[in-house]
Amino acid sequence: MVLITGGAGYIGTHTLIELAKDNIDFIVYDNLYNSSKEALKRVEQIIGKKITFIKGDIRDIDSLKKLFNSYKIDSVIHFAGLKAVGESVAKPLKYYDNNINGTIKLLEVMSQFNCKKIIFSSSATVYGDPKIVPISEDSQVGVGLTNPYGKSKYFIEEILKDLYSSDNEWKIVILRYFNPIGAHESGLIGEDPNDIPNNLMPYITQVAVGKLDRLSIFGDDYNTHDGTGVRDYIHVVDLANGHLKALKILDKINKVEEINLGTGKGYSVLDVVKAFEKASEKRVNYKIAKRREGDIAKCYANPTKAKKLLNWEAKKDLEQMCKDSWRWQSQNPNGYSN
Ligand code: NAD
Ligand code: UD1
Repeated sequence: MVLITGGAGYIGTHTLIELAKDNIDFIVYDNLYNSSKEALKRVEQIIGKKITFIKGDIRDIDSLKKLFNSYKIDSVIHFAGLKAVGESVAKPLKYYDNNINGTIKLLEVMSQFNCKKIIFSSSATVYGDPKIVPISEDSQVGVGLTNPYGKSKYFIEEILKDLYSSDNEWKIVILRYFNPIGAHESGLIGEDPNDIPNNLMPYITQVAVGKLDRLSIFGDDYNTHDGTGVRDYIHVVDLANGHLKALKILDKINKVEEINLGTGKGYSVLDVVKAFEKASEKRVNYKIAKRREGDIAKCYANPTKAKKLLNWEAKKDLEQMCKDSWRWQSQNPNGYSN
């Protein structure tokens, strides 16, 4: 049985489908802070079976112990965390408590129950402003991080490495995601931001569906092919499949493995806007605005380690990502609260 913390969220729900397709048993643990039961109902509809769900917080040791006492948990995929960059700057303690303290509590309970296998959701943000792109896993991390969210990911990576040094029985995979977008092809599940979206694709889809007036493109004077920021957008279904592949090699690894999950291709903001307009047949109203603080020019992965170690590579292209993002948004203009 695999415990999926944060399994009701955007990446978690897509991962549940990949696990179900492979007949892997799982249990979802989530406090529903940034998600809803409706998302899990939709996953049940897609996979055609009931999901075991426990509502709880990763900082709640008693609740975690109860969970580990009730189920034979062999490994954990740890998605639970807060991810709003701007909010993390305004409320650093909230982020450090939830992400770092929460992870420590989870690891403590796992230790007590002799469950020592974990896959952790990290981010390309740990690379800061990379000196060289594409970025490989041995690039510098932890330098020049501009917000507590990014730092929490870096600190957790360090904690996991210290834990392994203290006890080599641990099997730890750190997945560094690039920019997940897209949605399941059914249009039943997808990204459902609580507020005005901070990230590019949900902002674009909300402009296209008429919920927001106009996209602001944050800077057109970067050193990129058209001046706008370049990122490695990866389809969330490909990303989800990377977790399944990571689960399969967990037993075999004998050091903490950090693995990039990206496509290796970089697209600019304008490339994404154009691709989205083509895929959705909608016009996206935009204006050029000033740079967003903390943004970098280019960030895309060298994904060869994932190919070698996990036998995984991203399959879906930008057109598919745009089509699927649009299907989700147009079928669910108000996300899960339709
Ligand atoms: P999400 O917010 O949709 O999912 C996270 C889930 O964790 C939510 O369902 C939330 O309710 C739950 N959660 C948060 N704090 C919790 C706690 N203390 N106890 C129990 N549950 C808790 O986010 P997502 O996009 O699915 O991201 C999943 C993970 O991947 C996060 O750790 C995030 O930081 C990381 N990540 C995401 C991106 C991205 O662009 N989406 C990029 C890099 C890394
Ligand atoms: C952001 C976070 C990063 C996090 C990642 C995934 C910042 C500084 N970084 O990265 O820590 O891991 O999301 O959650 O917030 N853009 C616009 N207009 C918009 C929104 C975005 O032009 O309204 C541009 C950005 O300037 C960037 C690109 O689109 O060039 C992608 O932005 P975004 O989706 O926010 O992802 P990142 O900046 O890569």
